[in-house]
Amino acid sequence: MMKTSLIATLTMLALAAPAVAQDAAKGEKEFNKCKACHMIQDDAGTDIVKGGKTGPNLYGVVGRPIASVEGFKYGDGILKLAEANPGAVWDIHSLKAYVTDPTGYLDKYSGDEKAKSKMTFKMTKNQDDLVAYLVTVSPNAPAQPAEGDGAPVAPAQ
Ligand code: HEC
Repeated sequence: MMKTSLIATLTMLALAAPAVAQDAAKGEKEFNKCKACHMIQDDAGTDIVKGGKTGPNLYGVVGRPIASVEGFKYGDGILKLAEANPGAVWDIHSLKAYVTDPTGYLDKYSGDEKAKSKMTFKMTKNQDDLVAYLVTVSPNAPAQPAEGDGAPVAPAQ
């Protein structure tokens, strides 16, 4: 009896852990996987993370409209995603879903199930930490919803 309830308790703790396991410092290290293609450069032109130009600058990405970096040549798929979801901005949940499978994300939410992402990288773990870090480089991010299914959402007006 004792043993069963101990196991039950441990299981509950294990299930509860992911919700509190977001760690921006770890996420900063996770960003090493992104910087071959993405820089984080603030509006004054200061590099927070020096990175490549294959993908858009990710400064302020949390709360930023989808595919909105001026001068970046986005693919058709993500442009369709933005068009199909007017006013939608990235939040921690949509970012998690997107970086896990960018093409799958476009297929699901762009209105074109054959849409392809120009981002060829898929993040398989530690997405929670990564998005916690992205919040720290997004000074204009609104408060993030605790829950979300990953669908693109427009903030409440
Ligand atoms: C191999 C290069 C590459 C890597 C690695 C990569 N990306 Fe990307 N990323 C891209 C490209 C290219 C795009 C533009 C997608 C398009 O136009 O379809 C993009 C787009 C994005 C967008 C959409 C931004 C917007 O303005 O709407 C986000 C968010 C993003 N990437 C996050 C990440 C994160 C976080 C990582 C690391 C976990 C990462 N990417 C790793 C190439 C990459």
